[in-house]
Amino acid sequence: MKLVQEPSEIAALAAGWRGQGLKIALVPTMGWFHAGHLALMRRARQSADRVVVSLFVNPTQFGPGEDLAAYPRDLQRDSELAAGEDVDVLYAPSATEMYPAGFQTSIRVAELGRGLCGASRPGHFDGVCTVVMKLFHQTQPHLAVFGEKDFQQLAVIRRMVRDLDLAVDIVSHPIEREASGLAMSSRNSYLTEGEKEQALCLHRAILFAQAKVMGAAQPLSAAVLCSEIEENIRQVPGWMVDYVEVVDADSLERCETVNENSRLIMAVKMHERVRLIDNARLFDL
Ligand code: PAJ
Repeated sequence: MKLVQEPSEIAALAAGWRGQGLKIALVPTMGWFHAGHLALMRRARQSADRVVVSLFVNPTQFGPGEDLAAYPRDLQRDSELAAGEDVDVLYAPSATEMYPAGFQTSIRVAELGRGLCGASRPGHFDGVCTVVMKLFHQTQPHLAVFGEKDFQQLAVIRRMVRDLDLAVDIVSHPIEREASGLAMSSRNSYLTEGEKEQALCLHRAILFAQAKVMGAAQPLSAAVLCSEIEENIRQVPGWMVDYVEVVDADSLERCETVNENSRLIMAVKMHERVRLIDNARLFDL
């Protein structure tokens, strides 16, 4: 596996591969790899001749007071993990290369990026879209793999690709979980074992909602379901609900009643220190 840090170098490599008719897959990440990231790399490997994994802790998607400085970083560790998945290039540009002095362009997916995580993290998805667009231009992928873990991000990126006529196939991959049910996340490294146990309130909420939906004789009220879940989460000391919503999986608009295309989507915060997200479909499991 080759480590590339210069945007011009990855662009030249990608142009060369394209010239040879090779299919390129990109897996955008912020590093501190876990089994979720590795699953995306394997998915990319199945569908492409060349796999590029980008590793960039993107400052523009972090708000003031968020965990940019604390975000876990270890290039050596991540290089070894990516090499183990037969990745061709680990692309890890510097912030000064990505955002040179005078940088002032931004991409906004207006509606889809506004609610849910966009409401508590204003500007977050603008940062995500802008960096993903830059990574697409630099690595020229035929396809890019994203996890359903960040369900709103996936919807926003799909919209950007459609709206801006990008010739990149967006491939999604289901959420990888620990044996306990906790969704894998680089931010789990902020949690003690006890806090990880408490964070299972998210997975319990999913199981609770799925059981309710399965057992319901008539369509369930989304509002009632969400308030039951919020009440359960409030029982966990130290954890606060950011949002719990049942939304349409495509439009991300709130559902009145739970239907086949509904998605339960949630974010919780612990002592303002850690923010975790999770989501799941509720029908046809
Ligand atoms: P990051 O949080 O590192 O996630 C990189 C990719 O891994 C995303 O597509 C995310 O959805 C996926 N992922 C994370 N945890 C997962 C899990 N448990 N199961 C499956 N997939 C999982 O998302 C970002 O980085 C950034 O916003 C980025 C797109 C790189 C732009 O900076």
